[in-house]
Amino acid sequence: MTTKAVQAYLQEHHDRFLAELTDWLKIPSVSTSAEYAGEMRRAAAWVQEKFESIGFPVVEIMPTAGHPLVYAEWTAHPGQPTLLIYGHYDVQPAEPLEAWLSPPFDPAIRDGNIYARGSVDDKGQVMLVLAALEAWSRAGCGMPINVKVILEGEEETGGESIAAWVRSGTDRLRADAVLICDTHMIGEKQPSLITGLRGILYTEITAYGAARDLHSGSYGGVAPNPIHALCLLISRLKGEDGVIRIPELAAELRPAPADEKEFWNSDPLKLEEALCREMGVETLVGEDKYPPLERIGARPTLEVHGIRGGFTDPGIKTVIPAEATAKVSLRLPAGLKPEEVFTWLEKAVRHCSPAGHRIEVTRLNGGEGLVVSPENPFIRAAAEAIETTYGEKPVFMREGGSIPVAALFDQVLQVPVILMGFGLPDDGPHGPNEKLSLAQFKKGMATVADFLGRLRQ
Ligand code: BES
Ligand code: MN
Ligand code: MN
Repeated sequence: MTTKAVQAYLQEHHDRFLAELTDWLKIPSVSTSAEYAGEMRRAAAWVQEKFESIGFPVVEIMPTAGHPLVYAEWTAHPGQPTLLIYGHYDVQPAEPLEAWLSPPFDPAIRDGNIYARGSVDDKGQVMLVLAALEAWSRAGCGMPINVKVILEGEEETGGESIAAWVRSGTDRLRADAVLICDTHMIGEKQPSLITGLRGILYTEITAYGAARDLHSGSYGGVAPNPIHALCLLISRLKGEDGVIRIPELAAELRPAPADEKEFWNSDPLKLEEALCREMGVETLVGEDKYPPLERIGARPTLEVHGIRGGFTDPGIKTVIPAEATAKVSLRLPAGLKPEEVFTWLEKAVRHCSPAGHRIEVTRLNGGEGLVVSPENPFIRAAAEAIETTYGEKPVFMREGGSIPVAALFDQVLQVPVILMGFGLPDDGPHGPNEKLSLAQFKKGMATVADFLGRLRQ
């Protein structure tokens, strides 16, 4: 029943855990396109079987309006705390395929990393939790505490189905803390625990001009051009200074707490340099009166993900397109409601739209951000577990990414949300050649196993 036996089990079975992860990564569970619906079901069934083999007495696939949720429960210990563990089995699209050194759904091991779509985000991190749970089940003679696990298949597309499940007020949610392994650390030698995530509002903006595509010679100079209109609109919404010009949004932004501000200003992690190196750029852009950590963790941003329209094939075609669409998202500091920000954005778009075009804004999805206090026994246990594995205390800091359901857990359950991720800054989630460091995979399972043991009373 000792943590030692559990840790020995993890070491002994490490290669099998890696082989199992490899199997799971081969299933292209891309949630955003309907053509992968069958693969989504396969990926859910794969993890259902894994829960059963670990020995979870309750394992269920719950159908939803979108992709299924997978739920597993092992709650045999009255008096012990209950931990709800969340993760996601869906992945982002792998395109552009030609940018991958090895195929995204055929995992390859190179220089101490496993490369595949979903390796760090989030199958690899779910797998290291499953390994820790299996180790407690087998070598620790059962779970040390009560455990509930919920895995969703729509995180990368906004998490609508899990949000409905959480809002349904299900008993299954009841827990004393939530654990999420879906973020990253500053570095292999400098672990971190995450105290905040930004929210997101994802939209599509379409501009319409003439009734049909036009010859740019015959009409150029008098015709509306929807692509140009989008460029003007976007640059009016966020200028070169990185400032977003949505008045209601600006009015809602609150200054950050003084201690965090001090931490960001002192840039103890030398983040500016590290970020330039990671991105392969010479200088950062954006709101330069805020330090980089604040810009990423606590300031809003507006980004264009792509513009579709007109002629982009090789060669020449002189056309003025009749319409064009931009995918635009905003990251939102905790406290802002995406639905409300959407109404402000619509208003700003109306105000900034160039004359002669009709412009439509559609909300695709959204989720709120959250901040978590580092002052509670669960986070302290997480910090101790990290220190035990890494020999270094974790730094507490915010991240800029979003996990739409995380804020809902916080609001509905009102218990600590522990964001303990094992990614590294150069893992490249969402991009080509996404990877997970094998050392982090190993340390991650050791840390989670240690953490579970610490929660036992
Ligand atoms: N694991 C990420 C969230 C994340 C990213 C946390 C970077 C910390 C740092 C998650 O899978 C993710 O990518 N979320 C999306 C949500 C969106 C598509 C609604 C995101 O942040 O873009
Ligand atoms: Mn993720
Ligand atoms: Mn992701």
